[in-house]
Amino acid sequence: MEEKILSVRRAARDAIQSAASTLKELDNVRVQFLGKKGEFTQLMKNINQIAAEERPKIGKLFHEARTEIESLIADKTAELKERELADKLAPESIDITLPGRHVNAGHLHPLTLTLNRVKEIFLQMGYSVEDGPEVETDYYNFEALNLPKDHPARDMQDSFYITDDILMRTQTSPVQARTMERHEPNSPIRMIAPGRVYRRDDYDASHSPMFTQVEGLVIDERITFGDLKGTLEYFLKQMFGEKARMRLRPSFFPFTEPSAEVDVSCVMCGGHGTDCKVCHGSGWLEILGAGMVHPDVLSMSGYDPKVVSGFAFGLGIERIAMLKYGVDDMRLFYDNDVRFLNQF
Ligand code: PHE
Repeated sequence: MEEKILSVRRAARDAIQSAASTLKELDNVRVQFLGKKGEFTQLMKNINQIAAEERPKIGKLFHEARTEIESLIADKTAELKERELADKLAPESIDITLPGRHVNAGHLHPLTLTLNRVKEIFLQMGYSVEDGPEVETDYYNFEALNLPKDHPARDMQDSFYITDDILMRTQTSPVQARTMERHEPNSPIRMIAPGRVYRRDDYDASHSPMFTQVEGLVIDERITFGDLKGTLEYFLKQMFGEKARMRLRPSFFPFTEPSAEVDVSCVMCGGHGTDCKVCHGSGWLEILGAGMVHPDVLSMSGYDPKVVSGFAFGLGIERIAMLKYGVDDMRLFYDNDVRFLNQF
């Protein structure tokens, strides 16, 4: 009997060690030795054939063998489970030394960035942002701005007409009249109006048939040319830095009187002019048009020029963006070449 127990014990050990290389096989081994009809159970069936005095010894031997086999199976089970998990994970392992995959993040267009900055500066000064249609009537684009039909100054802005009375707006100035009309007569206005404008221009490094303007209009009692000057100077310094200087030259717009062309000291050469390709040696760059709102423009939109006065200005966003970012060809803004856009 002793011999038998030891031999089953040995056989079980061998089976666990060699035969079982998967959990399934190991389970077969467990059933074979420890199952209800397993070899250990079979051994015990013969216990009554053993002399009573021998029984405790045999029982102990049997118990030891069974316990050992049970714990061997438990150990092996743990080992196989670990190996199976490792095998499963191996093909899923991540090589952290591989270079990452680049994800292209989008960002705002340089014209939008410039426009946002302009808006920010005027919003800080308490301006509202107004909007008007790009397809405009002849009345708002010209007549309400003191440009009656056949006025020679209409030639300053070659227009895209849709019908005799409807055109693509050539400037954001129509929003001046629209905003005044929306207000209670003579009530104060402090607004900017950004948007696209259209002119029959060539498409070259400094012209485009579509570009972006920001209109400005301030109306209140006792608004003076000094207010205009101070406002524009503050704006230019915010936009181009404290070193930027401003210069006004007399000009003409039908809707402002007096009118001025506003220059900023060249952002490339700082105003020296020597050998500067951007300002062509002058040290100055024309950047916007401005003036005191013409009395007729006020009265046409319901305001009384004897009670209130105002100033207006119009600036080109492309021009400002070119100066701010050192871009020498306006077409780059519209081509949308990512090699260009990625630089902002
Ligand atoms: N609308 C003018 C232009 O497009 C600019 C301007 C606006 C001038 C407001 C004076 C006042 O050229």
